[in-house]
Amino acid sequence: MKILVIHGPNLNMLGKREKSIYGEKTLDEIDGLLKKEGQALNVEVVTFQSNHEGALIDFIQEQADSAQGIIINPGALTHYGFSLLDALADSKLPVIEVHLSHIYRREEWRARSVIAPLAEGQISGLGWRGYITALQVLVGELKAKSSR
Ligand code: DQA
Repeated sequence: MKILVIHGPNLNMLGKREKSIYGEKTLDEIDGLLKKEGQALNVEVVTFQSNHEGALIDFIQEQADSAQGIIINPGALTHYGFSLLDALADSKLPVIEVHLSHIYRREEWRARSVIAPLAEGQISGLGWRGYITALQVLVGELKAKSSR
């Protein structure tokens, strides 16, 4: 089983960027923890980050047929990324949306996610652990479905 973990714009700056909001861990550290959890769950975790919406879309289009689910933190594209939303919908894969920060406690414009209606669920405000939890839930659901 292959799970795609996709990070949107500016998330390459984790560890340097607004640490009080996004935490101390770098993106490489988070990706490493996700891969480790993937090994424990016996699934392949493929991670990808881009600052460009088109590159995120290209990645989804290239990978969707060989993957079983997507975990995505779309960064600010969360709030207006309609092309990204369309690519996620076209992938036909189950999607879990993750935010490091609590998007409902911050500026008003962050409280709207254009991705959320498509996602199976959303984790917001739990820091890097939100990604790990999303992976556990997604894999748990996929395994339960395949054994039905
Ligand atoms: C974010 C929240 C977004 O509003 C912001 O633009 C980000 C990160 C988060 O993980 O909390 O880049 O998605």
